[in-house]
Amino acid sequence: MHIAMAPIQPYSQLVFLFLVLADRVPGQWSPSNFRPPKPRPYPDWSIETTKPLPYRAFRYGPKYHVTMGLRAAEHEDWIQLDNHYPRYHADKAARLAERGQQIAKTAPEAMPAALELLDELTEYLPSRYPSLFRRTAVGIDNLWSGESFNIAERPLKEDPIEICGRLIQDDLALMIERPDGQYYLLSGAIILPGFWRLEDKFGMPLSEIHTSGHVPQFREKLERGMLSFFTRLKCEAIYSRNNYFIQVDDSLAWSWSIGSEDDPNISWQTAEKNRAIEHHWFRSERQTLRRLPRTGAVCFTIRTYFHPIVDISKEDYVPGRLASAVRSWGEDVSRYKGKERYGDVLLGYLDGEHQKQLERGLDMGKEEDLRQYPW
Ligand code: HEM
Repeated sequence: MHIAMAPIQPYSQLVFLFLVLADRVPGQWSPSNFRPPKPRPYPDWSIETTKPLPYRAFRYGPKYHVTMGLRAAEHEDWIQLDNHYPRYHADKAARLAERGQQIAKTAPEAMPAALELLDELTEYLPSRYPSLFRRTAVGIDNLWSGESFNIAERPLKEDPIEICGRLIQDDLALMIERPDGQYYLLSGAIILPGFWRLEDKFGMPLSEIHTSGHVPQFREKLERGMLSFFTRLKCEAIYSRNNYFIQVDDSLAWSWSIGSEDDPNISWQTAEKNRAIEHHWFRSERQTLRRLPRTGAVCFTIRTYFHPIVDISKEDYVPGRLASAVRSWGEDVSRYKGKERYGDVLLGYLDGEHQKQLERGLDMGKEEDLRQYPW
């Protein structure tokens, strides 16, 4: 087949090619019949005793590779909840009361997708976490908090993305494909983000979200792969990726060390240098991506795990591996992650803890048997 092409930008050319391959017209979606399989109940899940999954998603040096780092996942593992739920729930409620639409909002164009996401969670959560949620005739009840959500009424009392955000520990973003083939952030409940603000990125396409944040090597290493990934993502698939940051304050919702949440200029430059190790926190996100069948929107979930460095350093191999990972960051990654502000204190501490583990007889040959990324 010969395809006549007008003189268009390389970016649009790529989108066009991917869509021809995927047999779709950009920005148009025919609802898919796919239904995610009903998840099994999470084994022995309890809001008191189920601990956060111990993601320790950092690798030994010598070189830090910027990659998409996506792995195929199972639908039943879509949303992960644990005994930190009460704290996340309380923090989210307080933040929503204080900041409202600054942190959770939906553009009219994305409303069908936000309603679909709410339907999906209303189906998924009571099956996966039956001790926490109950499906009702009109929606979903939270058995722990006593909240009852009627998702059938119109108009809904709240923005559906806000309800989604209240139900789980994750933050959420919906990416909508427009006729130019790009994916735009048009609905989000970005309530506990740490280092970025929904207001700054709302309405932006995927590339601009990342270039405006100076994500290292985005153009060279990530952009093409991400574009192709979003265009081709199928409803049947679900992917996850993990990242990690160091934070030098204990605030889950907003890391005030880089500046006030209301200050337009935030930067690692303003963070206090060399804070004591007790103020160093390990912040790690588990993100998932899937395409919703009814609207074709791509749902991006961001679950943050947040622990003091001194706590995770008690785990075998962690201080040695984390020190090696931090040393492997190139200049660009170091700048992005703020290493200059905490590197000396952090590495001094991690080296000391690693040395103690070696003196206790830690067998460096055994680590590969014990762990598999991202653990
Ligand atoms: C294939 C999917 C994606 C990949 C591979 C990806 C990759 C990355 C990477 C490598 C970073 C740097 C921090 C890190 O290591 O995680 C980053 C930051 C970020 N990403 Fe993504 N991302 C993806 C999807 C998304 C989506 C859908 C959103 C929509 C909200 C998003 C929003 C952000 C934001 C806000 C930042 C922080 C930027 C800043 O510092 O201002 N990403 N992403």
